[in-house]
Amino acid sequence: SLAAPSVQELARSSKDIPTRYVRPELELDPVSKDESVQVPVIDMSKLVGGRDDEEDELAKLHEACRDWGFFQVINHGVAEEVILKMKADVHEFFSLPLQEKMEYAPLPDDIQGYAPSHVVSEGRKLDWSDFLYIVAQPRDGRNMRFWPRVPSSFRETLNQYSTELEKLKSALLSSMARNLGVEPEKLLTLFEGGRQGVRTNYYPPCKQANKVLGSSPHSDAAGLTLLTQVNEVKGLQIKRNGKWIPIDPIQGAFIVNVGDIIEIMSNGEYKSIEHRAVVNPEKVRLSIAAFHNPNSNAVIGPLADILGKDGKKQAPKYKSISYQEFMMLREDPKADGKEKSP
Ligand code: SIN
Ligand code: FE2
Repeated sequence: SLAAPSVQELARSSKDIPTRYVRPELELDPVSKDESVQVPVIDMSKLVGGRDDEEDELAKLHEACRDWGFFQVINHGVAEEVILKMKADVHEFFSLPLQEKMEYAPLPDDIQGYAPSHVVSEGRKLDWSDFLYIVAQPRDGRNMRFWPRVPSSFRETLNQYSTELEKLKSALLSSMARNLGVEPEKLLTLFEGGRQGVRTNYYPPCKQANKVLGSSPHSDAAGLTLLTQVNEVKGLQIKRNGKWIPIDPIQGAFIVNVGDIIEIMSNGEYKSIEHRAVVNPEKVRLSIAAFHNPNSNAVIGPLADILGKDGKKQAPKYKSISYQEFMMLREDPKADGKEKSP
């Protein structure tokens, strides 16, 4: 079978790590040693309410999306309490015995649920991680079968977290639209009622941490990803000028990245950047990624306001296709930028 064992269980074993996880090529992959190179930090409180420094912060956001494709947001308005509760509940879920977590294992043809690692094609390397993936929005698209009942607060916590992130997503999209010369309402409408997938990544420690990857290099398919680090253990790295740059998460901030769909909608002005996650030799690492997609009626292509009438401003660099077509092309073998589960 293609199914992989729970990495959490695997990490407990004293045996050598299975070759399916070992990546000899990592030795040749340059990682930046310059810790001062960091993604831009955007202060969301400056982007709302017509403050004097609004224009400067908008310009900073524009540059972050064009040049980095990644940034961190502070003063983002998501209540600290909600984030802390989400982190605590996620942590508690992963601490359950495997058997209990397996109650939420994915069904055939569904990518939701608790997946001890990923199913990949034969011969492909496996990621050193387990995950829980849940579609949290739109509300009527939820399948409660995959929402953990333990801890008992999990469902309400995720509901709150998901709702708060939707607001932040819209605030970011509005500012990005302004920067791109697009009417904010037009971009927001495309994302209205779109799927929000919440993926919690659990990276057990690995004795040979420099030989494995927690998350293989990829770009996110979605429009906009909002990522939070559950504990202080670092691991996210982004590709920049041929090198991997380790991201230093700011406490309480969200790491935001432009996905493929926003790159396409911006006609290539904004960049969907390749990234990966490494694991720690001693400590568990946990992260929560929320992927925000356009709705199923959206056309995925460069926005009309950017191209101008009859393409007078810019020639389109991407084809326009339906959301379904895009997902078919992009989701196989990666859903929201990740491999599909069984
Ligand atoms: C990912 O993007 O696949 C992982 C992000 C992270 O764990 O930091
Ligand atoms: Fe990702």
